[in-house]
Amino acid sequence: MTNWKEIDLLAKTWVKEAGQKIKEAMREEVTIETKSNPNDLVTNIDKETEQFLIDNIQSVFPDHHILGEEGQGDKLTSLDGIVWMIDPIDGTMNFVHQKRNFTISIGIFENGIGKIGLIYDVIHDELYHAFQGEGAYMNDTKLGKMKRVPLEKAILGINATWITENSRIDPNVLSPLVKRVRGTRSYGSAALELAYVASGRLDIYVTMRLAPWDYAAGCILLNEVGGIYTTLNGKSVNFLENTSVLAGNPNCHQTILSDYLSEQ
Ligand code: IPD
Ligand code: CA
Ligand code: CA
Repeated sequence: MTNWKEIDLLAKTWVKEAGQKIKEAMREEVTIETKSNPNDLVTNIDKETEQFLIDNIQSVFPDHHILGEEGQGDKLTSLDGIVWMIDPIDGTMNFVHQKRNFTISIGIFENGIGKIGLIYDVIHDELYHAFQGEGAYMNDTKLGKMKRVPLEKAILGINATWITENSRIDPNVLSPLVKRVRGTRSYGSAALELAYVASGRLDIYVTMRLAPWDYAAGCILLNEVGGIYTTLNGKSVNFLENTSVLAGNPNCHQTILSDYLSEQ
């Protein structure tokens, strides 16, 4: 029998230790490289943090599978068994340029079901965590169930990319939504934005392009507070694929799908 409480305890210990290591490493010079394009950054700290987490997981749970953004884990084609999805630094651009608003994000699944979600805002020392069926927390504070929020009073998390010329969505689709909501925010870490939705700092989050390690942990948090997440077509997300994500308060989610996205 899988001891999920042990996994939870170890995962939280390792994520905190990884955060401490990142803070220490930030005092030294960081090596920055680019990946798919000049704005897609990766540092030695991203890679070292991923390796640190993988080494710990493999030393205690050699039969668990690991999907990590920097590719040091396994190549996964299914969600069978226990799978850890790791983004060692979500918001690398923030890490490099702002030295804040980046997170370590870990989602742990059993046969495709989200069991544990951890999103650690290292600099603010805010650990968002959820255990399936037991609620979601920010540090020791339990997060409440989502209340109904009309779009007119909602704070929307969105990157300006999606309302300017881009290759994934006509900017005219979402710009009326930006006018309708109370305000918009963009934090530059998808995991942090999903944690903010789960904790009510944002009401809804929309993006055209995330990888599983960006949204896995956030979705597990949302499950515990009554949040909804789908693709922008209203379909279930596939935790093995890159996808668009619309996540948040159920009534905002429903209104956005029907008023803005039904023809997408
Ligand atoms: C990125 C951040 C960003 C999102 C990008 C992600 P990274 O992750 O989450 O907010 O808009 O799509 O790739 O590269 O910093 O781990
Ligand atoms: Ca990421
Ligand atoms: Ca990353």
